[in-house]
Amino acid sequence: MSKQRTPRGGSGRLAGRVAWISGATSGIGEATAELFAREGAKVAIVGRRLELGRRIAARINRRTPGAALALACDVSAESAVAQSIADTVAQFGRLDILVNNAGIVEIGDLHTQTEAQWDRVMAVNVKSMFFAFKHAFPHLRAARRGYVVNVGSISSFVGQARTPVYTTSKHAILGLTRSIALDYAASGIRCNCVCPGITETPMLWEHLNVRPDPRAALDERLSRVAMGVSLSPLDVAKSILYFSCEDSAGVTGTSLTIDCGYLTAAEWRCTGPTAFQKKP
Ligand SMILES: NC(=O)c1ccc[n+]([C@@H]2O[C@H](COP(=O)([O-])OP(=O)(O)OC[C@H]3O[C@@H](n4cnc5c(N)ncnc54)[C@H](O)[C@@H]3O)[C@@H](O)[C@H]2O)c1
Repeated sequence: MSKQRTPRGGSGRLAGRVAWISGATSGIGEATAELFAREGAKVAIVGRRLELGRRIAARINRRTPGAALALACDVSAESAVAQSIADTVAQFGRLDILVNNAGIVEIGDLHTQTEAQWDRVMAVNVKSMFFAFKHAFPHLRAARRGYVVNVGSISSFVGQARTPVYTTSKHAILGLTRSIALDYAASGIRCNCVCPGITETPMLWEHLNVRPDPRAALDERLSRVAMGVSLSPLDVAKSILYFSCEDSAGVTGTSLTIDCGYLTAAEWRCTGPTAFQKKP
């Protein structure tokens, strides 16, 4: 007897669609893969950690009406990206959605950075998007409607202390997003950028753990956020979903900042508690 699969809250918005999601073995990428599969998509979990990807894929295959496949890929290597896209299409028969989410951060003043550090961050955060688009393009065009979602950051708009290469890479993503939107609209492809604020993922804690008291460092940052809270990976995944389906019909070349109000004020001290800080 075939296994009964329960949609668990999904409304089938991505039924029949296939998505390639980079950096999907943790944080925002993992939440996006799970949300997409809940909406009926078949998802390629693309990342460097194959065993972890396989565990996530098994969980998604168990719990959602969609399907998942784990693929090992260093997104800074063109041949690996090309192979992962070919494997996705071989397994699922098509490709509709590209989510360029993988990213890394280097913390340090610019004059202390090496050329290798600069090249690595730019390769993982930006060049990977060029590789992925280049190899996905024939499939996105063949699908007649293609969706590209690039993950930027609030660092796409403002400087953040001691992350000069990351900030440069995230600004560059906005330019790439607009270029793709313009040049490929004729092929039925829309391209947009999601720009998260403080999101509780391994990357955030990597950033905070260099501080003597990471929890106090997070609270200090949140005191500059209007809503006074951080985002969950699922909060960001929902914005990625919006750009990956016809809910965002007509929207291309734009960015959506999802930051709990972080960038709304030049100066702000949240004295709280805000209604968002109270447990529902
Ligand atoms: N967490 C935040 O506060 C925050 C804020 C703004 C933007 N972002 C962006 O969100 C995206 C996802 O980050 P996250 O917060 O979920 O952190 P994360 O560290 O959990 O996710 C990043 C993922 O990218 C993968 N990755 C890194 N290098 C890779 C490579 N060479 N090839 C393949 N995969 C690689 C990692 O393994 C990881 O799974 C990143 O682009 C990040 O810049 C995060």
